[in-house]
Amino acid sequence: MSRIFITGDTHGDIDRKKLDVDEWPEQNKLTKDDYLIIAGDVALRWCDTKPDGTLTESDSEMIRWYNNKPFTTLFIDGNHENHHALNSYPVSEWNGGKVHRLDDSVYHLMRGQVYNINGYAFFTMGGARSVDIYNRRKGISWWPEEMPSRLEYEEAISNLEKNNMSVDYVITHCCGTSLQPCLCAFDADSDELTQFFDHLEFDFGLKFKHWYFGHYHRDKRIDDRHTCLYYRIIEL
Ligand SMILES: [Fe+2]
Repeated sequence: MSRIFITGDTHGDIDRKKLDVDEWPEQNKLTKDDYLIIAGDVALRWCDTKPDGTLTESDSEMIRWYNNKPFTTLFIDGNHENHHALNSYPVSEWNGGKVHRLDDSVYHLMRGQVYNINGYAFFTMGGARSVDIYNRRKGISWWPEEMPSRLEYEEAISNLEKNNMSVDYVITHCCGTSLQPCLCAFDADSDELTQFFDHLEFDFGLKFKHWYFGHYHRDKRIDDRHTCLYYRIIEL
């Protein structure tokens, strides 16, 4: 049985130090059959490709770094990603859901999907609203696709209905509006995505064992079923 770990935002080069061997020696025991899930703001793709279609040096180095790790990397998108570049990858199917495969062992888990990993059902829904938009430039350092489209919301509902509104784990970047006051975080604005998550949990009655999310840059177990992750790496 493979092992599954999950952590919060890595922000390109800024917070990936937590995945260095010195910081997380457990990785020495892992193989490509084991998984690390990152709950958004990975920024594996930040720059756009060069005119000849090749990756920029910084993006290709980053992807190679993850691909050279002993484990398989799975990530959802946050609001600090180049969504344009991510969406340029072909969509393929992996363990029952749609993915973008960035390299042999680096996968972007797309929005509104349900995957079967180790016999557990994982629902993933990346995206979040940026509060630092004033500091960023559209198409250069900010992309409007950071928020899900109507089709992505519909696909989420449809896939959850196929699973009888019941999964084992939920992985998102932001959390539901109702949890935001527990975080007292700078990013705690309610928006259509955070409202959608409350809608899933309280109106649709989504059943799940645990909901993990990032975005708020803190490690906090809010209650028995909701955990915000940033620097911690936990094993499911
Ligand atoms: Fe972040």
